[in-house]
Amino acid sequence: MAQEIRKIKESFEKDLEKGKSKDFFQELKVKYLGRKSKISELFSNIPNLPKQERGRWGKELNILKNQISSAIEERLSEKIQKEERLDLTYPAKRPQKGSIHILSSVTKEICLIFKELGFNVIEGNEVEDEWHNFSALNIPLDHPSRDAFDTFYLDLAKKDKKSGNWLLRSHTSPSQIRIMQQVDPPLAVISPGRVYRPDVVDATHSFMFYQIEGFVVGQDINFSYLKGTLLYFARQFFSQEVQLRFRPHFFPFTEPSAEVDVSCVICSKKNKQKNQDRCPVCKGKGWLEILGCGMIHPDVLEACNIDSKKYQGFAFGMGVDRIVMQKYQINDIRLFYENDINFLKQFSI
Ligand code: PHE
Repeated sequence: MAQEIRKIKESFEKDLEKGKSKDFFQELKVKYLGRKSKISELFSNIPNLPKQERGRWGKELNILKNQISSAIEERLSEKIQKEERLDLTYPAKRPQKGSIHILSSVTKEICLIFKELGFNVIEGNEVEDEWHNFSALNIPLDHPSRDAFDTFYLDLAKKDKKSGNWLLRSHTSPSQIRIMQQVDPPLAVISPGRVYRPDVVDATHSFMFYQIEGFVVGQDINFSYLKGTLLYFARQFFSQEVQLRFRPHFFPFTEPSAEVDVSCVICSKKNKQKNQDRCPVCKGKGWLEILGCGMIHPDVLEACNIDSKKYQGFAFGMGVDRIVMQKYQINDIRLFYENDINFLKQFSI
């Protein structure tokens, strides 16, 4: 008996080394543990042994059977894992594809509408000086927006006295100045980019956001040109049915100035009379503020050496984040900057 067991062990160890495939180990299982195996035969032979030896050999055979069985199972599960990993018919995982950020794609879309009207896209500088960001725009020295609570000042040596301190631009309006200083009218420019304000971050505020500035300078430019341009833009961007509402406002760099609201696309479509029923987008007001605008102040033209008797202009500035939030009903500006792929990929094209 001892000899038989040793033989089985030896032949099993040899067989085990030969094992290459899952099928091979399945066959090995039949060979060593199946009904017709040597071990089964020995088991059935136990009753023929002398009584006092039966228990001992029964135990020995069981140990052998368990050893063989666990050795095979171990190899088998290794093979199954490996062979599954190598299954060439398994469908491939799609590679993760990057996409244009929603703020960039909407910026592009807006610029394109103005480009079709003949505007040129020119980006300004994110690092500006006090003169371009404030003084040339007719913003007085004691204006609250110049305060360090409202503007990020940079710890850099001043260029000269006139330029004042360096800062991160708080709006895209200094692009007007940079371009008007360099290019003679007629001018039609659209200037997108980032702006910075030290606001406490919450659902509607961020210390960095996106604006798009637009302006036209030429002869005989009046407020009607401004209205016509903005109405064309709003109807291209939102929907052909929208209306605009101009509310008188004040900006130091435009006179007269206005804030512009667009009729709410969501609730005016659903129910023209009953937009009081608290629409989630306009909160039942029926109007959404989209931008600030006005006729360029003569002092601003003069600061850029443009003859304000000969030339007039209009300018407007809009917040891209706000417009995207309205268009796509997004209620938290922070979502744009958290880089949550699940949020961003909703807008990928
Ligand atoms: N710069 C203004 C702002 O940031 C917007 C504006 C631009 C208003 C141009 C009038 C003309 O609020």
